[in-house]
Amino acid sequence: DIRGVIFDLDGVLTDTAEYHYLAWQQLADEEGIPFNRQANEPLRGVSRRASLMLILGDRQYSEPEIQEMMERKNHYYVELIQTISPKDLLPGAIALLDELRQAGIKIAIGSASKNARMVVEGLGIADKVDAIADGYSVERPKPAPDLFLYAANQLGLEPQQCVVFEDAAAGIEAALAAGMWTVGLGPPERVGASHIVLPNLAGVKWAELQAKLSDVSK
Ligand code: G6P
Ligand code: MG
Repeated sequence: DIRGVIFDLDGVLTDTAEYHYLAWQQLADEEGIPFNRQANEPLRGVSRRASLMLILGDRQYSEPEIQEMMERKNHYYVELIQTISPKDLLPGAIALLDELRQAGIKIAIGSASKNARMVVEGLGIADKVDAIADGYSVERPKPAPDLFLYAANQLGLEPQQCVVFEDAAAGIEAALAAGMWTVGLGPPERVGASHIVLPNLAGVKWAELQAKLSDVSK
């Protein structure tokens, strides 16, 4: 039986994936490194350092330079999320959070971002979640299962009692490695490894989803 839901944040409950992209684009432009939306695709859901490494490719930088660039990108990102408000919740998010709460399902956020708490506060959903696992919670980033295992533990649940909502391939991989149910949001090319693929949260009903998941497990 599924007793808990773990939501990735960026690209699932809100479109901060776009802000991450814009912040990386600014950094890449300043460094004269070619980068665009298409090049950003593999960065989706990937940790800050791993994202920078993908942008830098085989260009060589010292550790202090790497640190400085990560901080600079974060500075741009933090600026972009200052104005986040409940209006920035993606369609269907509040309805699903409320339905889950009504159904007695535990809710956690499982985001690799060190800024997750700030975003959750800005979105006004802090009182709708039971736990937050963020970029400070574990060492190994997704696709390692650690962050989702940490979130399940916070909820007092076993992995197989949890379903993860993710928009990133690395996140689906992490959730599967954790032994959890997965709902991928977005194109199958990106999230096709999940148990169920949906375009987004709009119109998603917990009752229907539960039925679908139990079909998959047969
Ligand atoms: C999430 C986002 C990634 C981001 C990572 C680290 O996984 O999807 O785009 O790189 O968090 O976020 P941070 O805010 O700590 O740099
Ligand atoms: Mg995401």
